[in-house]
Amino acid sequence: MQNFNYSIPTKIYFGKGQIRNLAEIAKLGRNVLMVYGGGSIKQNGVYDKASAVLQENGIQFFELSGVDPNPRIETVALGAKICKERNIDVVLAIGGGSTIDCAKIIAAAARYEGDPWDLVLDGAKIKEALPVVAVLTLAATGSEMDGFAVISDMAKNDKLDTASELIKPAFSILDPKFTYSVSRKQTAAGTADIMSHVFEVYFTREKDAFLQARLCEAVLKTCIKYGPVALEEPENYEARANLMWASSLAINGLLTYGAEVAWSVHPMEHELSAFYDITHGDGLAILTPAWMEYVLSDETVGKFAEFGINIWGIDPEEGSWPIAKRAIRNTREFFTRMGLPQTLGEVGIGEENLKKMADKLDGKLTETYIPLTGEDVLEIFKNAL
Ligand code: NZQ
Ligand code: ZN
Repeated sequence: MQNFNYSIPTKIYFGKGQIRNLAEIAKLGRNVLMVYGGGSIKQNGVYDKASAVLQENGIQFFELSGVDPNPRIETVALGAKICKERNIDVVLAIGGGSTIDCAKIIAAAARYEGDPWDLVLDGAKIKEALPVVAVLTLAATGSEMDGFAVISDMAKNDKLDTASELIKPAFSILDPKFTYSVSRKQTAAGTADIMSHVFEVYFTREKDAFLQARLCEAVLKTCIKYGPVALEEPENYEARANLMWASSLAINGLLTYGAEVAWSVHPMEHELSAFYDITHGDGLAILTPAWMEYVLSDETVGKFAEFGINIWGIDPEEGSWPIAKRAIRNTREFFTRMGLPQTLGEVGIGEENLKKMADKLDGKLTETYIPLTGEDVLEIFKNAL
């Protein structure tokens, strides 16, 4: 197991009615910028609930709405400008990963004099940030409890992740009922995203991280059990609650500490989103089985067999190779059952930009579970067409 420093500073208020704890924001400041997306929070009542708590506690707030899925650097710049002009103390995100990510970089850019894109290119440039608070409405990215943010510059076809301890939310409110209104498509995409966060670290070269592997399996099993339930019964509290907590645990560091490995499928998916603005979880559902098939070899078959036995319940007597292949097939079939796309063609992606996207990753995936060159990435993209 590798050395690590354990630190997950975000306080979580989990469960029904926890929105009342938004009052805690007063300890961080009384001048708030509320950031949200395209308006789902106005339809499902979350906006009203949050605003009421702020008003009751005498907290002044300004609003920045319209954060796009795959949030744009232009929105970050606008938010930072508002923070500077209005002397904002705290940035409050209400929404899914896009809104929370956007709020995080707004909070950092509010304390930075240069171009906000610098902070996306290099998280080390974040030396200071306003406190961020999140009210989560979609179980998927784990942004509510991590230090990452993913921002796009569509003009350059760039979608990049950045990271800093300073942008981890001070606290996040996780009320599973707030996710009842999430569509089938986003519920499925969110489940695939959670699973992908686990796959990125479950498939590690670290051999003696036994505990982390078992924790990973618990989160995967939770998604496999409750993803389909949430699709069929959107107001099933147990399903929504389990998915919501799985979302946070998948990427808050708990599964990674001591077993860190650079991610493979996410960087590839970010290229798809950067060029085609597709839903993150859709891209992951397409690429994950293609990546698994590509990296399956004598070297990795043992790990994939472990995955097949422990996650899909395949009989160990079947032998490593058949188990590994069946495990990958089961993964693909699970995503299909969830209504997720299985080919790039289904999300409108053809061969036209594959090489350009793959070239952008050449030399960047050298520390992954199985290192990948630009040519490898191109093969995976082609296999997913
Ligand atoms: O725009 P609004 O009105 O908020 O609607 C959103 C959006 O249309 C809707 N939605 C959210 N909560 C809802 C709801 N609709 C009805 N009821 C609710 N309760 O769902 C749509 C998608 O929202 P978005 O925030 O884009 O989804 P998600 O949470 O999947 O976030 C995706 C973004 O996060 C990045 C992705 O790359 C992508 O840009 N990621 C961030 C990570 C992180 N910070 O750690 C890690 C991830 O791997 C990921 O890359
Ligand atoms: Zn993700």
